[in-house]
Amino acid sequence: MANAGKTNKNGERPVVEREAKDALSQKILALKKKLNAVILAHNYQIPQIQDIADFVGDSLGLSRQASQTDADVIVFCGVHFMAETAKILNPSKLVILPDEQAGCSLEESCPPDKLKELQDTNRNFYTISYINCSAAVKSLSDVICTSGNAVKVVNAAPKDRDLLFVPDENLGEWVMEKTGKKMTLWKGNCYVHIEFSPDTVRQIKQQHPDAPILVHPECLKSVRILADEVCSTEKMVDYCKQSASKSFIIVTEPGMIHRLKKECPNKEFVSVPGSNGACNECKYMKMNTLEKLLACMENLNPRVELSKEIIEKARAPIEQMLAI
Ligand code: 13P
Ligand code: SF4
Repeated sequence: MANAGKTNKNGERPVVEREAKDALSQKILALKKKLNAVILAHNYQIPQIQDIADFVGDSLGLSRQASQTDADVIVFCGVHFMAETAKILNPSKLVILPDEQAGCSLEESCPPDKLKELQDTNRNFYTISYINCSAAVKSLSDVICTSGNAVKVVNAAPKDRDLLFVPDENLGEWVMEKTGKKMTLWKGNCYVHIEFSPDTVRQIKQQHPDAPILVHPECLKSVRILADEVCSTEKMVDYCKQSASKSFIIVTEPGMIHRLKKECPNKEFVSVPGSNGACNECKYMKMNTLEKLLACMENLNPRVELSKEIIEKARAPIEQMLAI
């Protein structure tokens, strides 16, 4: 199909392709009912997946949904560590995902053996792990946080311990600024968010002078300092809903724009490109397609499988976070 994936000048897909996608969506919805499944999707998923999901949200919202669902099958449309978190919270349920290769540069940056080596250098470390890490790293942690609750989690940490924050040094640096607490930071980063540059953000602001700038805390400090609000993807939705402004500059992965347009249909959202025109899409989040979603539900595969030991050890710090 020569036209596959192409859109016309209004951003619309050809009718034949749209109808094929609609038919796929219908099949997925019918199968969802048959399996008693729930579809959870992250805010960065492609629009067609967001549109058929039962819940679309940030990492914190998705963990909460995963901890509360009574479905038999959890279909997780996000990246691998998110599906793992759902499995840790629901060991007896089947957790499947469209593409098990959907990783994350933050997760990759922090191998569990290297973390253990660092932890062994200081018995007084209290390890706070950003949820963007593997189940094995979670199992070595005292508490987990997301970008939506990191400040709260760090403020609740025991006063007599040395705080170790892994794996995102930019989120960690922002949390240190907000809490005034000193932490040892792991040197990991999100390959998408560090590509946003202050120059590009300033250029876009010149074109939209009245639009507040919303920045994800995984961005570099040079970009964060330009923000009207630094927040998680879900808090961006809350901010735009409550604000009297009519347009907003969104400095995060562009999947977010679809969610924002649905939540605030009368407002305008400007996505920021990476520096020097670099792609601002997360290649891992975009591995998931409707075709792969249907296939994983038909085959009940790929599925998340974790050892009992890892599940037990990783569950405590996640529950600690949910309690906070
Ligand atoms: P949120 O928790 O804000 O959705 O962020 C997750 C993520 O992967 C950001 O890159
Ligand atoms: Fe990981 Fe960055 Fe992709 Fe989020 S956007 S999943 S942090 S690589």
